[in-house]
Amino acid sequence: MDAELNMKYAHIVGWGSFWPDKILTNDDIANIVDTSDDWIFARTGIRERRIAGEGETTATLAFEAAARALVVAGLHPSQLDMIIVATSTPEYIFPSTASRVQDYLGAARAGAFDLSAACSGFVYALNMAAQAIATGSIRNAVVIGSETMSRVLDWEDRGTCILFGDGAGAVVLRGSSIPGGVMASELRSDGSGGDLLRLPAVYHNPVPALGPEYLGNGHKHNTIAMDGRQVFRFATRVLYQSILNVLKKADLNIDDVALFVPHQANVRIIQHVAKKLKVPMEKFYLNVERAGNTSAASIPMALCDAIEDGRLRPDDNVVFIGFGGGLTWAASVVKWDVTPPEVTRLDREWKRTRYIVARGRSKVRRWGRRMEAYLTGSPTPDARLRDAEKEKKLPPS
Ligand code: ACO
Repeated sequence: MDAELNMKYAHIVGWGSFWPDKILTNDDIANIVDTSDDWIFARTGIRERRIAGEGETTATLAFEAAARALVVAGLHPSQLDMIIVATSTPEYIFPSTASRVQDYLGAARAGAFDLSAACSGFVYALNMAAQAIATGSIRNAVVIGSETMSRVLDWEDRGTCILFGDGAGAVVLRGSSIPGGVMASELRSDGSGGDLLRLPAVYHNPVPALGPEYLGNGHKHNTIAMDGRQVFRFATRVLYQSILNVLKKADLNIDDVALFVPHQANVRIIQHVAKKLKVPMEKFYLNVERAGNTSAASIPMALCDAIEDGRLRPDDNVVFIGFGGGLTWAASVVKWDVTPPEVTRLDREWKRTRYIVARGRSKVRRWGRRMEAYLTGSPTPDARLRDAEKEKKLPPS
């Protein structure tokens, strides 16, 4: 029992990322809006980004990243207690993206929810899962950042459409009695700056019978709007202070940090912070040139690249720093203590087969529910929608 109670240190034991195949270069964007590769690269450090394909959603991207992370961790989805997806681009408000990932993985014992903190979301989610492990309420969690930003961009606004990309990254957290893992975090928000970076979501359906004041909120377009200059100033200010605060909480100095993995928004923001901290740029891992700003996915995607590049060794201290809409910002210090295990191709294929079986099981359950509805004469929401369309109560979806 004691051993169970002591599993309070949340170690990162698995990681994985997923990059959609389609590459959109700055030159491609210059064919859409009045811009150029030179302008975009000089102001942001971005050369290209990935765009999700037709059949891909925030949930499928998240699933791919999580499945890879579980393979590295050597965990079966049934061992997961919690799935958190940090995202600003869920396909549905509900079911949550995390619930869809739970279904795709066949993680039958896991709770699942989405977390909304824009580009800081991954660091927030990491902290939530680590805290749940620290209290003993869970043992294993997968924390995912996943985004399909291309679907919420105004492709006529050159101030925003040049910045963002699609992708997903995930880590598996596991409770251990060995000190280390997620050591300290700082999560912050300043809602007074909410208008500087926003993505309207719910268009209120009018309720005419109740009078004009019930006619909705006017959010007709759910695309990103941003005041770039103000966001730039906010980011450079809070990142610097947040790094100092979180290091103090972890009782570490700036020289104790082996690698900073910042939110990949803009190289100039990172240069600014590095200079202020008097830390060489080499200590900040960057992949924004190839990925663009993938919002909540950017830190775990960069982490995976950093591991692949051999930038992390056991006992290294790594700092994650996110900032974005809300306004929100967040930092975490993690003691890195794993050597990547050898994962054979056979192992990977065998584990992928298990996911296919899990998805089959999920389909069988869904058919079972439909059959039950048919036999008991209580139509499912989908059938009700189809009937309403047929009766011309609704426009075709
Ligand atoms: N191509 C060419 N010219 C452009 C473009 C473009 N894509 N966009 C703007 N311009 C022009 C403007 O019209 C302006 O022209 P003017 O001087 O004739 O009026 C000029 O370039 C300068 O515009 P600024 O907006 O002042 O350009 P700035 O140097 O601030 O760079 C940028 C813009 C890159 C957006 C920068 O402000 C930035 O990176 N801000 C931070 C944004 C960010 O990181 N957001 C994500 C936060 S994370 C999240 O939660 C989503």
